[in-house]
Amino acid sequence: EPTLGAAAAQSGRYFGAAVAGGRLSDGAYTTILNREFNVVTAENEMKIDATEPQQNNFTFGNADRIVNHALNRGWKVRGHTLAWHSQQPGWMQGMEGSSLRSAMLNHVTRVATYYRGKILAWDVVNEAFDDGNSGARRNSNLQRTGNDWIEAAFRAADSADPNAKLCYNDYNTDNWTWAKTQAVYNMVRDFKSRGVPIDCVGFQSHFNANSPYNSNYRTTLSSFAALGVDVQITELDIEGSGSTQANTYRNVVNDCLAVSRCNGITVWGVRDCDSWRSSGTPLLFDCNGNKKAAYTSTLDALNSA
Ligand code: G3I
Repeated sequence: EPTLGAAAAQSGRYFGAAVAGGRLSDGAYTTILNREFNVVTAENEMKIDATEPQQNNFTFGNADRIVNHALNRGWKVRGHTLAWHSQQPGWMQGMEGSSLRSAMLNHVTRVATYYRGKILAWDVVNEAFDDGNSGARRNSNLQRTGNDWIEAAFRAADSADPNAKLCYNDYNTDNWTWAKTQAVYNMVRDFKSRGVPIDCVGFQSHFNANSPYNSNYRTTLSSFAALGVDVQITELDIEGSGSTQANTYRNVVNDCLAVSRCNGITVWGVRDCDSWRSSGTPLLFDCNGNKKAAYTSTLDALNSA
């Protein structure tokens, strides 16, 4: 198949991209987006600060432009994200305790209800664990409302949109030997054993010098899948260039293809100049929209599944 989306579909998987709403008026950008991908994630427009800028005053215009772009073309949408310590609106940043817990659950309920039936998978909770060797939860205003805040968010999302897949999403959880990976694994195992409604785990997969791709990535994906959840690569980008970068993209794709419950891959942007990284060339298309070696290795890997 000649495109990423069609090549991934051969094995029942999707291939997505993070979309910045402001880029939808850039014809060179949308030409690539519309040709290659069949799932989108809003890069910022569905986050808490964007959708609830004042408490209980919800704004969905910018998010809807991205969602409608996708649904009008028969694509699917990954929702990102309902509960997160970052990109909280000012009113939420100042809250603590039971009022914050209620506000968070209200946010989850209202946003997931608004988009009910339109979302393939929600990143219900994003980045709730510490980096480093402790395996602890990240200290945040949400965490300080009580250790059960994550499962409370999943239960609220499940009530609001019972058909969306509900994911926990994080970074630095790719390397099976890392404490953070094991801590998330233990949480998911606990949730599955107690019937907390979790369906999937998102591996952001921002690979760089500090967090390099490791060949145990496949072990990580298959170990989580064995708990009874889907796994998705949700924010893939890989620092570097040329054949080294292309080989890493190939390895990542092959690792997903080797795990039957790894059902989709999303890259975090379209062209290198669309990337959140201020420097570097981590994506599949260069700034002129040309296909890079990493594109070719990714497409070839998908086609040889
Ligand atoms: O929209 C404002 C604009 O009004 C203002 O003038 C400008 C000045 O700084 O900021 C603009 O907001 C920026 C926003 O992107 C939209 O461009 C924020 O400053 C900037 O911090 C924000 O960065 C985003 C970042 O998340 C914030 O946490 C990146 O675009 C986005 O790619 C990145 O995505 C995250 C995922 O959500 C979670 N995983 C990690 C990933 C990469 O950091």
